Amino acid sequence: PKDTIFRYLASKANYEEENIPNYDLPNPLIMKNGSTINTLKQWNQKRRPELLRLFETEMFGKAPKHPKDMHFKILTEDKNALGGIATRKEVSVYLTKSDKHYFTVLIYIPNKRSGAVPLFFGLNFKGNHTISLDPGISYPTPEKQKEFLWKRLPPRGIAAARWPIEMLMENGYALATIYRGDIDPDFDDAFKNGVHPLFYKKGQHHPANDEWGTIAAWAWAMSCAMNYFETDKDINTSQVAVFGHSRHGKAALWAGATDQRFAMIISNCSGCGGAALSRRAIGETIQAINQQFPHWFCRNFRKYNSKENTLPFDQHELIALLAPRPVYIASATEDQWADPKGEFLSGVHATPVYEFIFGAKGLDAKEMPPSDTPLQDGSIAYHIRSGRHDITQYDWKQYVKFADKWFRK
Ligand code: GCU
Repeated sequence: PKDTIFRYLASKANYEEENIPNYDLPNPLIMKNGSTINTLKQWNQKRRPELLRLFETEMFGKAPKHPKDMHFKILTEDKNALGGIATRKEVSVYLTKSDKHYFTVLIYIPNKRSGAVPLFFGLNFKGNHTISLDPGISYPTPEKQKEFLWKRLPPRGIAAARWPIEMLMENGYALATIYRGDIDPDFDDAFKNGVHPLFYKKGQHHPANDEWGTIAAWAWAMSCAMNYFETDKDINTSQVAVFGHSRHGKAALWAGATDQRFAMIISNCSGCGGAALSRRAIGETIQAINQQFPHWFCRNFRKYNSKENTLPFDQHELIALLAPRPVYIASATEDQWADPKGEFLSGVHATPVYEFIFGAKGLDAKEMPPSDTPLQDGSIAYHIRSGRHDITQYDWKQYVKFADKWFRK
C-alpha cells in the first residue's frame, strides 16, 4: 500500500519546468517586518533566530532541550576491527536516568591516526549491522527488534555499498551512524513509539502543532550524540560533518541548522523538505510529502499544502542557516522526484548570506553544471551525478575531497 501511494503521487506530479507556478523567493536578508539585514550582528541576533524559529514552528517542529539525565556507555570496543585498520565502538546514548531508553551509535575510528580525527556522521535506514559485513557489529537486542516492528531482521551488510568504511579509514576519517528507527520509527504511529512520549507534558498524547515530527527527532538525536563525541578523545569535534541521504539528508540539514557544532553539512538527494525549493512545486510537493509521510514534519506544515507561496521561508534559507559553514548539496540526474534544479537553486539563493554577511564564497554559479562536474570552489559545493536516487562511491569521493579541503588546510 505504501508503494501504491507513492506511485499514485509520483504519477500525478509535475515534472515540467514550464508548469512551475510563478513565485518570488523570500530574501534571506530581509526580516519579516521588512527591515534589511546588513551586518553580522543583525544576522546573528535578529534574522538567524527569526528564520530558525519559523522553520521550527512551521515545518520541523520544536524539539526539547537535551535531556539533563543523558548519559553514555561504551557497550563494545574492538581495537582490531576490519582486519586491524579500525577501532570499532558501540556507544549507547541514554535519554533518561535509567538505562531503559537509549539509542546506539556505531563508530569506526581509523587506527592509522595521530591525535583526534575528523568524523562523518549520518543515519542509516536498516540497522547498524547493515552498513558492513563486519561480524563484530551487534544486532539490535530482541527488545529493540520488537520495538522496531521488523517483520524480519535485515541481513548483515545489506547496505554496505552505501558505506565505504575502508575508504574513509584510509583517508583518516572516522565514521559514525545510528539506525534512525532506534530514535523514532519511520512510519505514522501517532508518535506512540520512539522518543516523543518521553518528553510529553502531563496528559499530553501527541506533539502539539508546532512540536517535533520524526525528522526533528532524528536531528535532535544526532545533536545528543554530538555530546558523546565531545567526550571521545579520538574524535575531533570541531571537524564533524553531518551527512544524510534523502530523508536523512533532510535530517542532516536540520541538525546542522539547529546545532552549530556540526562543522560541515552534506545533503545527498535530500529533495522536498531538504535542499529543494518548495515553491517550484515540481516532483515531490509539500502536499505529497505530508500525505505520504504525515509524521515527518509538524502539523503546522500542512497549512502549506498547495500553498507554497504562503510559506514564510523557502529551503534556500535552511541552507543560509548553515552559514558560514561548508555545505555540500548533491543531486542525481534520474532523481526528478527530488528536483535537482531546486536543490541547486537553494545553494545559489543562500549565497548572498555567505557573501554579504560572512565575506565567504557561496555557490559561484548561475546555471546548473553538467552532470558529474562538481563545483567545489566555494563554501557551498554542488554536483549532479548521473544515475539514480542513491548515495554512491562517486558521491563519497566528492565528500572526502571537500572535507579534505576544509579540514586539512
Ligand atoms: C521518498 C520521499 C522522499 C525521500 C525519499 C527517501 O521518495 O518521497 O522525500 O527523500 O523517500 O528517503 O529515499
